[in-house]
Amino acid sequence: MSNRLEAVVADIVEGIRGALMKHDVTFDEYRQGIGYIMKTVEAGELPLMIDAFLNTTICQIENRNFGGSTSTLEGPYFLDDAPFVEGALKTYEDDRHEPLLLRGRVLDLAGAPVADAIIDVWHSTPDGHYGGFHNNIPRDFYRGKLRTDAAGGYEVRTTVPVAYKIPDQGPVGALLEAMGRHSWRPAHVHYKVRAPGFHTLTTQAYFEGGEYVDSDCCEGVHSELIHADVRESGIKVIETDFELAPALAHAAAAA
Ligand SMILES: [Fe+2]
Repeated sequence: MSNRLEAVVADIVEGIRGALMKHDVTFDEYRQGIGYIMKTVEAGELPLMIDAFLNTTICQIENRNFGGSTSTLEGPYFLDDAPFVEGALKTYEDDRHEPLLLRGRVLDLAGAPVADAIIDVWHSTPDGHYGGFHNNIPRDFYRGKLRTDAAGGYEVRTTVPVAYKIPDQGPVGALLEAMGRHSWRPAHVHYKVRAPGFHTLTTQAYFEGGEYVDSDCCEGVHSELIHADVRESGIKVIETDFELAPALAHAAAAA
């Protein structure tokens, strides 16, 4: 454990030293950087800053090591106690936003169905917020748990999410702006797929042609997670099959 810690920290420091050398960073800039980090800590935005830049890398490592469907960011708005839902996610009573049908199957790496898998689905409201986090929106709105049937199938109705900004009024937003970037994430649906004996898959679905799909501030978009505009009887459909890697591969990779 301590050797791994020493190896990782030493390489992180080496990487930072390389960047400082490459750009001839001055002592004044170095001190400004420390001041910025202090401000970020005081604003409670250190997790946000680290997630915005590095979480996607951890997902890439998972994808490299475990196989199965592509994993991407969980983000800060997952709630593990979301209720099971039948048929449709709870939405605003007056939600007239475009209807969306989410469906697909959960499979193992050989293509066999995984019955009784639990899929957490969550996404933004039509005004770019999350239930349980913003504006006193009830915590069971726009989220819920599904259980796959004997064929590994799942299906739920909801409405189309929208692009939203990560918190942009503090130091992280200021940094992205100063770098010439923005704080927007493209519209997406979150999924977390769990089944006994399988490595948990956390991923998202994006919409082809959607705003910021090509410039996600958190760099969580992978081309295979972008869905074409498919409609059935006028209803927008995202069909996603999730391939789960065995939990054993996870244990072996972590050993
Ligand atoms: Fe999100």
